[in-house]
Amino acid sequence: MTADDKKRAAARAALDHLDDARIIGVGTGSTVNHFIDALGSIRDRIEGAVSSSEASTARLRTAGIPVLDLNQTGTLDVYVDGADEANRQLQLIKGGGGALTREKIVAEASRRFVCIADDSKLVGLLGAFPLPVEVIPMARSLVARKLVALGGQPALREGFVTDNGNVILDVRNLDFTDAAGLETRINNIPGVITCGIFAHRPADLLLLGTDNGVEVIRA
Ligand code: A5P
Repeated sequence: MTADDKKRAAARAALDHLDDARIIGVGTGSTVNHFIDALGSIRDRIEGAVSSSEASTARLRTAGIPVLDLNQTGTLDVYVDGADEANRQLQLIKGGGGALTREKIVAEASRRFVCIADDSKLVGLLGAFPLPVEVIPMARSLVARKLVALGGQPALREGFVTDNGNVILDVRNLDFTDAAGLETRINNIPGVITCGIFAHRPADLLLLGTDNGVEVIRA
């Protein structure tokens, strides 16, 4: 089974965990693209979706799913999104696609966070994947120096601008033994919008596509 087959299986399995929610929070990425396609098959049963990126918004519209404004919907029942890494506590690294800030907003606005991924994303300790950090452009070099002081090795994601008009620093070599503490320290650097650690708001459920079917992992 290819990684893409596993992503599709995890994405389809998420339909069984929507619990009749009428408005679905929708993340970003190749796994979520499969979820959006699956959501299209039940579009008559939902009112719409709150999107975490311009890319997902476009795909939702193509699938015939109305895209709603989070300011109008209030708290959502469920958010479905992928991850770049997940541990068994369901703490995540996200932002490989650069949509981390809107993803964190929609995750925080949701009662349940269902994470969908192929089994290559499950790790013992977070941090092999370079941590994405969204930064206001004028603070890029200040934030990079502060990240070096934390032990990291930041690299500017060349030629990339986020949906919010900012830049991304991808940071290697950080110590993730206290993921929540690291999330707080990085988010407190002036100029950082947010980092891609989801430890203060981890997922509630991980649907992991494997060669033997979809494994369900709870925090
Ligand atoms: C987008 O910014 C990311 O947080 C994605 O959720 C993450 O990169 C997972 O992407 P794939 O589903 O493409 O692996």
